[in-house]
Amino acid sequence: MTSVETFEVSVKAPTNPYLPVPMRIERVHIETDDNMLKTFELSFVHEKDAAGFRFRPGQFCEISVFGKGEAPFGIASSPTEPGPLKFTVNKAGVLTTALHNMGEGEIVGLRGPLGNGYPLEKFEEHSVVIIGGGFAFTTLRALTKYILDPLHRPRFRDITIIYGARQPGLLLYKEDLASWEQREDVKVYLTIDQAVPGWTKHVGFVPDVVERVAPSSKDAYAVICGPPVMIRFTMPKLTALGFPPERIYSSLERRMKCGIGKCGRCNIGPYYVCKDGPVFSYAQLEGLPQEY
Ligand SMILES: Cc1cc2nc3c(=O)[nH]c(=O)nc-3n(C[C@H](O)[C@H](O)[C@H](O)COP(=O)(O)OP(=O)(O)OC[C@H]3O[C@@H](n4cnc5c(N)ncnc54)[C@H](O)[C@@H]3O)c2cc1C
Ligand code: FES
Repeated sequence: MTSVETFEVSVKAPTNPYLPVPMRIERVHIETDDNMLKTFELSFVHEKDAAGFRFRPGQFCEISVFGKGEAPFGIASSPTEPGPLKFTVNKAGVLTTALHNMGEGEIVGLRGPLGNGYPLEKFEEHSVVIIGGGFAFTTLRALTKYILDPLHRPRFRDITIIYGARQPGLLLYKEDLASWEQREDVKVYLTIDQAVPGWTKHVGFVPDVVERVAPSSKDAYAVICGPPVMIRFTMPKLTALGFPPERIYSSLERRMKCGIGKCGRCNIGPYYVCKDGPVFSYAQLEGLPQEY
């Protein structure tokens, strides 16, 4: 390399990790009957931003609504899916309400991908049990899509999905669920809290369905995302089935600010959830303060 080339490389401005890139809202899809969950499909405005963007299932991004702030959201699409990035957003407060009021063609900001994602290399050659509750299924969708992609499916053994919501209309990704139910290489168990006319699948809370279905823990990993109460009651069921803490993974939702391990906002014990997580094994979380 000549000295001129060296100089050009050294003065290239480093990418500012706090600087969002502009994304265009391509489509908005209402996921649930109560209108509280919408999936936003976002495309990069600048080709150069798209070219450098690589992610794995389980990672998240900070999405900014200009003038309101930014908040973390799990990437709901898989890297195997072409087209816009998908984020499914629950209308919770100031920022998410502003986002829900936005529509196609409008611009938001995006920082990421952030966090570690699911340890796919460990899951390879193993069975994977995917357990979700409520709207926390977002990155589980990304994981499932990734594993079921024809390029990747041969590298995994049995795939079991157990997913519950209060009512049928609150289940996310109904088209994906229907297509997974058709497949012979994945077992799908859907459940709702209480029986309603026309529902022919499971009825009952997710932990009870885990016990009823009893997925084998032999050479298997479990991934669980949902409300804390669901996780608390599912853990003993998984333990009883023989899943050791190092083979159970979950994604933590902690209030965040910088998303890159600088501000200390998301810290639990020795971990920054934004940087060391959000995906942790239960072996890592055992012994930490019970605040999460
Ligand atoms: C790694 C990560 C991934 C996430 N992925 C998603 C996702 O895919 N879809 C989604 O809808 N949400 C997701 N969240 C939660 C989302 O970031 C918050 O709901 C959002 O910040 C709320 O912003 P707001 O300004 O609308 O609400 P605010 O006005 O700030 O708060 C509204 C209410 O939500 C509560 N809240 C805010 N942030 C959180 C949080 N992180 N966890 C629990 N409660 C919170 C507040 O205490 C308050 O009660 C994720 C959070 C993390 C940390
Ligand atoms: S959000 Fe700043 S350190 Fe994690």
